[in-house]
Amino acid sequence: MAIFYSKLLVLLLFPLLLCQSPARADTAFTHSRAAHYPNSDQQGTSDGACGYKSFGATLNGGDVSAASNLYRNGVGCGACYQVRCTSSSMCSSNGITIVITDSGASGNTDFILSQHAFAKMGQTADAGASLLSLGVVDIEYRRVSCSWPNKNITFKIDEASNFPGYLAFLIEYQQGDKDVTAVQLCETVNLTCKLLDRSYGTVWTTTSPPSGPLLIKMLVSGDDDGDEAWLVPLNTIPENWKPGDSYDSGVQLN
Ligand SMILES: *[C@@H]1O[C@H](CO)[C@@H](O)[C@H](O)[C@H]1NC(C)=O
Ligand SMILES: *[C@@H]1O[C@H](CO)[C@@H](O)[C@H](O)[C@H]1NC(C)=O
Repeated sequence: MAIFYSKLLVLLLFPLLLCQSPARADTAFTHSRAAHYPNSDQQGTSDGACGYKSFGATLNGGDVSAASNLYRNGVGCGACYQVRCTSSSMCSSNGITIVITDSGASGNTDFILSQHAFAKMGQTADAGASLLSLGVVDIEYRRVSCSWPNKNITFKIDEASNFPGYLAFLIEYQQGDKDVTAVQLCETVNLTCKLLDRSYGTVWTTTSPPSGPLLIKMLVSGDDDGDEAWLVPLNTIPENWKPGDSYDSGVQLN
């Protein structure tokens, strides 16, 4: 019972802790350049370095991007940025919101956008087509909160997993503008936890997952304010987890 209560407390206090940091909505824009993927046969990308696979092709309506420095060895996977190009005759003032799903640079760029996203920076479809033909454009960007209405943070068991000896999973639909910088896998009988390795992108793995229902705790860190806290899911991963299945954590960030 005591354990149950302490978990509940963390859950209840966590949103309050996060609210104390100033909203990042008024963060200044940074000047940079953006290119676009050469292929337009799909909206997003299903072979991005973050490891989202087919989820990355349809995520955010296909408005996704590869990042160079902002990829941050995978920590940047799933982060959202507002990106707008700077030609006042062609570009809309709001630009677009993209999600990082891949790593990459094309010359001196911070982003390689999906063609879908790149064209949407234009004021009109014609302007979007003109932007695409330019290939690389000047942009401004800033980090913004991701918003996934009606979604909790979800654990997707990677298809490369092999029950029961090899567990690889991804963290999907994380709202807000913070990063998951560490993950603990806990067994729910003796409540012992171990830190996992980020295998690549947003994929976390272990070759010896404990048996029984599993709890995945996430260390959520702010950008520069230094505050961080462990987010404890409400739901466990069932003991008979299956490669390819997704499990609702029961928690979300604001
Ligand atoms: C919990 O601890 C007991 C006693 O050390 C051990 O026998 C058991 O295997 C542990 N259970 C799990 C799921 O690790
Ligand atoms: C998110 O988790 C909460 C708490 O478990 C649950 O009540 C809610 O239905 C979940 N939301 C969705 C969209 O699944």
